[in-house]
Amino acid sequence: MKKYIVTGGAGFVGSTLADRLIEEGNEVIIIDNLHTGSKENVHPDAKFIESDVLDIDFNDEIFEDVDGIYHLGISSSSPMYKKDPSLVGKIINEHINVLEKAKSKKIPVVFASTSSVYSGQEPHHHEKMEVLVTDYYTEGRYGMERISELYANQHGVNVIGLRLFSVYGKKEKAKKTYANLISQFMWDLQDGKKPVVYGDGNQTRDFTYADDIVEAFVLAMKHLEGKNGFSDFINAGTGKSYTINEMIDILNKKLGTTIEKEHVIPNPIKCYVMHTLADTKKAKETIGFTAKHSLEDGIDELIKESKKQTQ
Ligand SMILES: NC(=O)c1ccc[n+]([C@@H]2O[C@H](COP(=O)([O-])OP(=O)(O)OC[C@H]3O[C@@H](n4cnc5c(N)ncnc54)[C@H](O)[C@@H]3O)[C@@H](O)[C@H]2O)c1
Repeated sequence: MKKYIVTGGAGFVGSTLADRLIEEGNEVIIIDNLHTGSKENVHPDAKFIESDVLDIDFNDEIFEDVDGIYHLGISSSSPMYKKDPSLVGKIINEHINVLEKAKSKKIPVVFASTSSVYSGQEPHHHEKMEVLVTDYYTEGRYGMERISELYANQHGVNVIGLRLFSVYGKKEKAKKTYANLISQFMWDLQDGKKPVVYGDGNQTRDFTYADDIVEAFVLAMKHLEGKNGFSDFINAGTGKSYTINEMIDILNKKLGTTIEKEHVIPNPIKCYVMHTLADTKKAKETIGFTAKHSLEDGIDELIKESKKQTQ
């Protein structure tokens, strides 16, 4: 049995990860400010601390003997940063709080970075690509990646940032309008509403199922065992992308609905990301990660779960 901290463990991906760690017999401490998370997501066997990561004193005895920190408690969506650019500084300071704890006891850290660092770059998106200056959200995560490298070089901290590609899954309800389009459109179709698509719907996404992402986090943590001063950032995606139109067709087919989409043209979002597609080579070679769920499989699981909840 190991003892892990999962920040953001009341959120969508963090709670999926915490559930798995607990089901495998580990002890989990969740830190979450419930901004987009929900207490309903928190596993009953987790120790739950309702707090901002910035306000946590990691010297508290509850955090003694921690074997690893999964840091996902980070403001999770680009519009949040547009509204409040000071979040860029805040998330870097929170990351420093985590890394200072990691430094003091040589605790490995795996944190959530994002495929948004590839904004403005054509796919396939690979880790050697330059990060362009595109928005606040991207700058925050890029800053976290760079600070991680500094802590690895100067203090021997071991840290991996996973660049997550469009994650969808079962525990997204609390995210509401910040949830992945797959979940939002599934809810629309189930309510008999038309999914509203920005633009012509030919934009593409590398949609990745949450359970696969959780596997990537676990593998990344394992990879850090026995390392000294290791820092890297690695894509976590499937390597296959679909258009929004294709995704809605799959949802309609699987739900047995025939609801038409509504297009908003021109696309009202400035600097809209048109395509995401992970190059998966580094993930395979470094941490041994390959996503197992095809989009059809993931949507099947999502629909099965939502039917279970409404029974
Ligand atoms: N879901 C995706 O498609 C995706 C893609 C790329 C990156 N990510 C990143 O992965 C992480 C998890 O994403 P998610 O989809 O589960 O989002 P989420 O919003 O469900 O999870 C984030 C959780 O962290 C909490 N939180 C936010 N800021 C916090 C803070 N300062 N202190 C404590 N708790 C805080 C929120 O309340 C929430 O429970 C986020 O950092 C997100 O940016 C997600």
